[in-house]
Amino acid sequence: MSLEKFIFTNNQVISFSSFWEAPSNIALIKYWGKKGNQIPSNPSISFLLSKCFTRTKITFSPINSKKDNWFTFKLDGNIKPDFNKKIEIFLERILPYVPSLKKQNLIIDSSNSFPHSSGIASSASSMAAMALCITDWEKQINPKMTEERFKIKASFLARLGSGSASRSIYGPIASWGKTSHIEKSSDKYAIPFTQKVHKIFHDFCNTIILIDDNKKEISSTEGHRLMNDHPFAQKRFDQANQNFFEIKNSFETGDIEKFIEIVESEALTLHGLMMTSSPPYKLFKPETIEIIELIKNYRMSSKSTVCFTLDAGPNIHLLYPKDSKRDILDFIENELIKIYPNLKFIHDQVGNGPKKI
Ligand code: PMV
Repeated sequence: MSLEKFIFTNNQVISFSSFWEAPSNIALIKYWGKKGNQIPSNPSISFLLSKCFTRTKITFSPINSKKDNWFTFKLDGNIKPDFNKKIEIFLERILPYVPSLKKQNLIIDSSNSFPHSSGIASSASSMAAMALCITDWEKQINPKMTEERFKIKASFLARLGSGSASRSIYGPIASWGKTSHIEKSSDKYAIPFTQKVHKIFHDFCNTIILIDDNKKEISSTEGHRLMNDHPFAQKRFDQANQNFFEIKNSFETGDIEKFIEIVESEALTLHGLMMTSSPPYKLFKPETIEIIELIKNYRMSSKSTVCFTLDAGPNIHLLYPKDSKRDILDFIENELIKIYPNLKFIHDQVGNGPKKI
């Protein structure tokens, strides 16, 4: 689909409000490295979450005077100018595709289901929630927009805010990035994973182990940028393509051993890329490595199918089938909390998609 097809040319200005809940997602094949205007260097695939979400209401009204602010951002009901820069970058990036948005005043009221300082990246869920409200505004002016087109446009706009946000439009599994392995895949927006998924992967759970809730020292934007001159970049992009192909096969066949191998390798590769960037950096903590060892030992001794993944930070995401939830809770209680009493946990599960409220 050409970029022109994403431009909404209608000049109408309306009074309208839209309220959406968009969940965060956790990548199994990681997006790390980008080109041009938020174009990924490799395809990625993710599970959508359900309990870690952002709720955003945008109230649109006509701008009456030049003195009116274009937008006001509120978090939990309080005006938060600290976020203005980020929101402005997002709105400026999407403006070529929704030009009349500049004539609207936007009051953006947002809240997260998880604490802002929990160390969980809220950019995927928050950008997706804003993109859904803005696409809803477009649909209000252009009611002929189909459901499929609505989601494509929302994912397209969300991507311009944060690449991984493009995948938060679809559950339970979404992929983003052009690949010969998936028909209709695109670099411009995510698509739902419609291939066969073996029942072992239905109802997967995700427990987030919060190891450190401080803000990251190096942002994802900087991490992506460091991939531009990374000595292993091309090898990594080839590897991600191969892993994408293999995880797609595991979903189909139910090969959970292969799934675990790929998911854990992707997590460690992401952090390996950070440690081999120039300048090098690391985001995990000693506890991250220690707990990974405990998870592996537990898996070996119990024949469990739990595995871990990492985001761009020190926290660990445990992934496991729902029917092993009791065992995983026991492992947390008997092994992790005994050694690390200060750990916090968020128990989430794979979800089906954003909701209009
Ligand atoms: O969407 P961004 O620019 O915040 O980058 C996200 C990168 C990872 O979370 C590390 C991986 C991914 O695919 O979500």
